[in-house]
Amino acid sequence: MMETAEKKARPSTGMCPSHCCPPQLLLLVTVTLMPMVHPYGFRNCIEDVRTSLCFRCIQRFLESPALAVSDLPPNAISLNLSYNLMRCLQPSAFARLPRLHTLDLAYNQLETLSPGAFHGLGALVVLDLSHNRLTTLAEGVFNSLGNLSLLWLQHNPLSTVSPGALLPLLNLRRLSLRGGQLNGLGAVAVAVQGLAQLEQLDLCENNLTTLGPGPPLPASLHTLQLCNNSLGGLVGGSPEMLWHVKILDLSYNNISQAEAFTQLHLRNISLLHLMGNPLDVFHLLDISDIQPRSLDFSGLELGTHGLKKVCLRLQGPRALQRLQLQRNGLKVLQRNALASCPVLQELDLSWNRLQQVGCAGQLLDKKQQEELEVLTVEHNLLKKLPSCQGAQVLPQLHNISFRFNRILTVGSHAFAYAPALQVLQLNINSLVLLDRQALWGLHNLTELRLDNNLLTDLYNNSFTELHSLHTLNLRNNRVSVLFPGVFQGLSELQTLDLGGNNLRHLAAQSLQGLSKLRRLYLDRNRLLEVNSRVFAPVQATLGVLDLRANNLQYISQWLHQPPPFRYLSSLYDLKLQAQQPYGLKMLPHHFFQGLVELQWLSLSQNMLRAIPPDVFEDLGKLRSLTLADSSNGIHDLPDGIFRNLSNLQFLDLENVGLHSLTLEVFGNLSQLQVLHLARNELKTFNASVASRLSSLRYVDLRKCPLSCTCDNTWLRGWLNNSRVQVVYPYNYTCGSQRNAYIHSFDIRVCFLDLGLYLFAGTAPAVLLLLVVPLVYHRTYWRLKYHWYLLRCWVNQRWRREEKHYLYDSFVSYNSADESWVLQKLVPELERGAFRLCLHHRDFQPGRSIIDNIVDAVYNSRKTVCVMSRSYLRSEWCSLEVQLASYRLLDERRDILVLVLLEDVGDAELSAYHRMRRVLLRRTYLRWPLDPTAQPLFWARLKRALRWGEGGEEEEEESSGGGAGRPREGDKQV
Ligand SMILES: *[C@@H]1O[C@H](CO)[C@@H](O)[C@H](O)[C@H]1NC(C)=O
Ligand SMILES: *[C@@H]1O[C@H](CO)[C@@H](O)[C@H](O)[C@H]1NC(C)=O
Ligand SMILES: *[C@@H]1O[C@H](CO)[C@@H](O)[C@H](O)[C@H]1NC(C)=O
Repeated sequence: MMETAEKKARPSTGMCPSHCCPPQLLLLVTVTLMPMVHPYGFRNCIEDVRTSLCFRCIQRFLESPALAVSDLPPNAISLNLSYNLMRCLQPSAFARLPRLHTLDLAYNQLETLSPGAFHGLGALVVLDLSHNRLTTLAEGVFNSLGNLSLLWLQHNPLSTVSPGALLPLLNLRRLSLRGGQLNGLGAVAVAVQGLAQLEQLDLCENNLTTLGPGPPLPASLHTLQLCNNSLGGLVGGSPEMLWHVKILDLSYNNISQAEAFTQLHLRNISLLHLMGNPLDVFHLLDISDIQPRSLDFSGLELGTHGLKKVCLRLQGPRALQRLQLQRNGLKVLQRNALASCPVLQELDLSWNRLQQVGCAGQLLDKKQQEELEVLTVEHNLLKKLPSCQGAQVLPQLHNISFRFNRILTVGSHAFAYAPALQVLQLNINSLVLLDRQALWGLHNLTELRLDNNLLTDLYNNSFTELHSLHTLNLRNNRVSVLFPGVFQGLSELQTLDLGGNNLRHLAAQSLQGLSKLRRLYLDRNRLLEVNSRVFAPVQATLGVLDLRANNLQYISQWLHQPPPFRYLSSLYDLKLQAQQPYGLKMLPHHFFQGLVELQWLSLSQNMLRAIPPDVFEDLGKLRSLTLADSSNGIHDLPDGIFRNLSNLQFLDLENVGLHSLTLEVFGNLSQLQVLHLARNELKTFNASVASRLSSLRYVDLRKCPLSCTCDNTWLRGWLNNSRVQVVYPYNYTCGSQRNAYIHSFDIRVCFLDLGLYLFAGTAPAVLLLLVVPLVYHRTYWRLKYHWYLLRCWVNQRWRREEKHYLYDSFVSYNSADESWVLQKLVPELERGAFRLCLHHRDFQPGRSIIDNIVDAVYNSRKTVCVMSRSYLRSEWCSLEVQLASYRLLDERRDILVLVLLEDVGDAELSAYHRMRRVLLRRTYLRWPLDPTAQPLFWARLKRALRWGEGGEEEEEESSGGGAGRPREGDKQV
């Protein structure tokens, strides 16, 4: 099972189906296909949904094939590049696609084909280069096209074909050079000389004036078309040139001399067209070896007079297969006008000016009447078909065509002479009246064409005798009423075409008797309503019902009658699109009830305002649904609307005003293969919806304002790589922005955002949690110290202003030295009336110790540092010296008085580098242990304390003694 499906999906060879295949049929074929899994979406091409590996890249404004070819799979078998803007083909332009079977380059602007342009296309069978601007076919252009069978070069201004240009085309069967500017057959004959398979060569509509000089055409060539050229004679060619040609079309040239033909061997000709040449054809027959029966006598202006002569020439033992007398200006054909002709099977009198042909048989003799099978009198001036009751019978006549005349009326028993008639074509006339009995007796008629006439009434008995009729075409007449029973008797009728008439109502009995009807076309009428009873007579068989472009309209969601199609249990195709003038508007509840076999439903162009969610409920077998172009009505589809359509394969929702795709609407479409969503308001295509559409193979999102937001990162990925073919994925712009594309917008930012925020949010917190305790533990004091240094500096700026000092001196000392301070220094100085600031006495309790130190330093004119080894080790003392020296350095005010209690070596000092810097820069007082030296020390100290600098008012005050107490500790606050 898998294997066969796989084979169907990927035919390795063979042509793509032509574009004219009915879509229904093709869709049927795809039913069995398995979904293929490979990345999809091409820059400029669309792969055929039904036939994989066939690509259409039309109307893409392409200037080079490379833009289309570069992303196609190498096993592509068909490529259609028509309607683009290519000017030239580079060598090996298609070498990527060695399996290519069909290549269509028509309707481009190709001027040059480089030699080797088709290099690598050894499998190519069909090449279409028509409607371009090629003027020359150069040598080497078609190299490597050894398998090419059909080459279309028509409608190029081609004037030169190099002798070797076509040489590689060993398998060429048909070549068209129609509509070029070639002026001699000779050059072409040289070019096709070696093509042993060539069967047909079309050179019509060139400027050919001569046949030669040139070699004989290949023996295989049986059809040569030289129509609409300027061949005055047939000069220049060798006598053998057309030796093998069987069908030769020389119509619309300028050949006037019959003698022209005598130079050629034309014995093998079986059909020669000479229409539109001023030639005496009888003279031609006299002097050449052309058989009269090989001649098409059309367009030779024979007149009634020449007709007899022709017939005499055609006499012979065998029956004549076909006598064509088109465009001979025949006006009247008398009784027995063709009696002198041989027995014939087909008579074609089209394109003359006949006003009547009577009852046909009267033109012929008895023998001929027996044999005639086909009578064609199209494009004449026939006005009426008379009654032929009792006329001579032509028992074999089965096919009559009177198309393109001016027939107004058809009399009763008008075809009584042709009782065996099977096909009767009366279309494209002016029929107003068809006699009730006009078609009587035609028991064998299977096809009746009455379309494109002016019939207003169909009478009850008109068709009663047509028991064998399969097809009745009444399209484009003016029928406004179908009387009950009008088709009674058409028991074999399968197709009834009533499209393009004036029907407003269908009476309940109007389809009575059509027990085998399968296709009913009622499109382009004015039907205001459809009623279930009308279809009752055809309920068992009707398969196709076309009601498009009528005037059906519903304004309520509720039907006042039974559902119109409820009996049509065999209907598989229903067309309801484009109701006039404003569409169906509503689909009432249960509108489609009963259509259990329906497979194709078209509702496009109906401006549906409301669709009830249950309307498709009964359509379990539906495969294809079209709701395109209903944009004025629908916005989003109601939830659950497709829930029973589990067999749906094709859904066209182009331009229906969708804003979003939801699972509630699309969740059940597990068989859906093709989804058209172009021209909707979609900003995205949901990942969840896509995942539920498990059979999807093709999606069209053109002209949707897809947004380039992080919501669509999924879509971006999907466009680039999925099992679904997305139509032109590289052309989806970001909303209405012109140069930003969905497939390439920057999605890094989407992923980056989250990561960055997470990182930025958490990292510092973590870091802080790690570092804070560590810092607190290790450097609390150092930080605090620096913090105060900073505050100090700031304060100093603000305290520029001189102020009154509270103290003469702040005494900074370590507790180890407190006995000296309290017993010696304080009494000595306070006796000298110095106001001293001592920490144990003058620091404000409750304030932090550092604040107190800062205040003490700044509120005292001087700071006396009592230095010892323990002082150096103390941080507080270091801070005090630092603060004091800071004032020294930056305020240029020397406030520091150093008293050295014990000798501190330089080496010891170096451990306290800040202190050392201070000590090195200034002199200090040394405490002498010798008591006799001590008075001098005190004197110098007092002087130092009184000493002021410039600008500062020096106060001469005597200081009084005082006592001090040691600080509690060095490090604890
Ligand atoms: C290519 O496309 C054009 C335009 O639709 C069509 O007419 C033509 O037939 C296609 N060619 C082939 C080879 O199918
Ligand atoms: C050939 O020429 C005749 C007369 O000029 C014209 O009616 C006809 O359309 C031409 N045929 C073609 C195929 O161009
Ligand atoms: C569509 O995309 C192709 C390939 O990226 C590009 O060459 C072309 O210009 C685009 N066309 C439009 C209309 O954006």
